[in-house]
Amino acid sequence: MNENYMGEDYIVIKAQENGVTIIGLTRGKDTRFHHTEKLDRGEVMVLQFTEHTSAMKIRGHAEVYTRFGMIKAESPGGGGKPEK
Ligand code: TRP
Repeated sequence: MNENYMGEDYIVIKAQENGVTIIGLTRGKDTRFHHTEKLDRGEVMVLQFTEHTSAMKIRGHAEVYTRFGMIKAESPGGGGKPEK
């Protein structure tokens, strides 16, 4: 760990369907997946970019809240899984 490292922005993701996936991508020269989280409908995750994570990929229907505003992530292929 680097003690001088400053905390970075938080983002909030709210799943709008089951099985929304959040994938953390490594900081630095290589860009690899290093962590995956699954959220079900209604679940919320509060996340921070870190010295290990410089990018995140969000798959599925979700609301992504950042300091730039809210962005809707859609299901790949449109429709999404039918909800009961
Ligand atoms: N490992 C890359 C980095 O730390 C991850 C990344 C950040 C990236 N922004 C990107 C990869 C834009 C492609 C495009 O820079």
